[in-house]
Amino acid sequence: MKLWGGRFSKATNELVQQFNSSIDIDKRLYKEDIEASLAWANALQTTGTLSKDELQSITSGLNQIKTEFVEKKFVFAQKDEDIHTAVERRLTELIGETAGKLHTGRSRNDQVTTDFRLWVLNACSILIKNIIELQKELISNASENLNTPMPGYTHLQLAQPITWGLWILSHFWPLQRDIERLQQTQERTSKLPLGSAALAGTSLNIKRQKIAKQLNFNEVSENSLDAVSDRDFAAEFLFCTSLIGIHLSRLSEQLILYSSEEFSFVILDDAYTTGSSLMPQKKNPDTLELTRGKSGRLIGNLTSLLTTLKGLPSAYDKDLQEDKEPVFDSFDTLNITLPVMSGLISSLQINTSKMSANISPSLAATDIADYLVDKNIPFRRAHNLVGKLVSLSEQLQKPLNDLSEIEMQTISKHFNLDIKKLFDVKTQLERRNVTGATSTIALQEQLDKANIIVSQNDDRISPE
Ligand code: ARG
Repeated sequence: MKLWGGRFSKATNELVQQFNSSIDIDKRLYKEDIEASLAWANALQTTGTLSKDELQSITSGLNQIKTEFVEKKFVFAQKDEDIHTAVERRLTELIGETAGKLHTGRSRNDQVTTDFRLWVLNACSILIKNIIELQKELISNASENLNTPMPGYTHLQLAQPITWGLWILSHFWPLQRDIERLQQTQERTSKLPLGSAALAGTSLNIKRQKIAKQLNFNEVSENSLDAVSDRDFAAEFLFCTSLIGIHLSRLSEQLILYSSEEFSFVILDDAYTTGSSLMPQKKNPDTLELTRGKSGRLIGNLTSLLTTLKGLPSAYDKDLQEDKEPVFDSFDTLNITLPVMSGLISSLQINTSKMSANISPSLAATDIADYLVDKNIPFRRAHNLVGKLVSLSEQLQKPLNDLSEIEMQTISKHFNLDIKKLFDVKTQLERRNVTGATSTIALQEQLDKANIIVSQNDDRISPE
């Protein structure tokens, strides 16, 4: 018998039955569904709806169902519409009609969103752990070559020298923001909807705060209509995962470029690359390309849910059943992408001589302008004079540091031979000594801070 079959005189059309069913997707909520039902059963006993014996029988039935799921022995029935009906159907098989009391004062509307919130809370914790692992790999990679010079680019054009440490750590901080965003999402997700019933709140005299405590929610929802249709937590989760995907995609894109023969700044480990079926010489960065590609599906999942939510009237609408698939998919996507990326970074080799070789003298141009500024020339004029110097070096087909004093002085008398020291890359790096910049001291400070943050992250994540 269907949970809601009483008023119907006809069986559901077979295709509609299939169309309506969400069990293939939401069976993943079994643990949360049972947990929430156990808490609800306890509440029902406090109102006298369940006797002690009935509570005992429901509790042991639910625990047995949990075991069946864990041991992969749970047998789904063809008519199981979703996880909630499947669990209740099985409970009835196990303990008989008492099972029918469990749904007193509750609706699948507050039940499903309670389960889903519990699931998202856990999913955030798992992703945070994965991100911390990747952060650790980035840090250990950074510490090996913190001060190793490499060319820095803007607009993908050579700009100024930076160091490998600065570059690799530039991918650490976005991930830190991702962790913080997931934690903030957890705070807002940790609000119990149970007790909102279908839309107007349960008529039972239950203590919602007590249920919240039992299920580890921080607080209870304030408005029953809002609570049953609020999927902001799912949308936020999908935004977090999209942005993580974008961060990983940007890291991937740069590593793809740097591993190309033309750059050869990095060497990807064989274990993280694949070959071509046609061209024997090829070593393809498929892992990175897939990571870059998967950001598209993560953004797609966010777009899908936002579009589903847009324009929904008050309270529960069946459209909301479409909420889980994108969330599960985005979680699964990152739950493999992040560890793969950690492995790739831990096996990454860098080619320090190739990076140094690409730092051309022209990268000292800003420092030469600063040199003129030190001689009290306004920066705008200095910029213009150095521009002319660069153009002269191009005209004479001589690198900037090979221009003679006489040649330089055709542009400005302020250029002297002492300019040569500015072409030393180390000098250029050390001149930038503010927090976040390229000097040895600044980089060490940044690395130390990153290390402190990672150990704070480690401390903050609660053991499962
Ligand atoms: N399977 C449904 C979902 O995932 C559960 C809630 C059903 N509620 C209802 N009123 N039909 O959204």
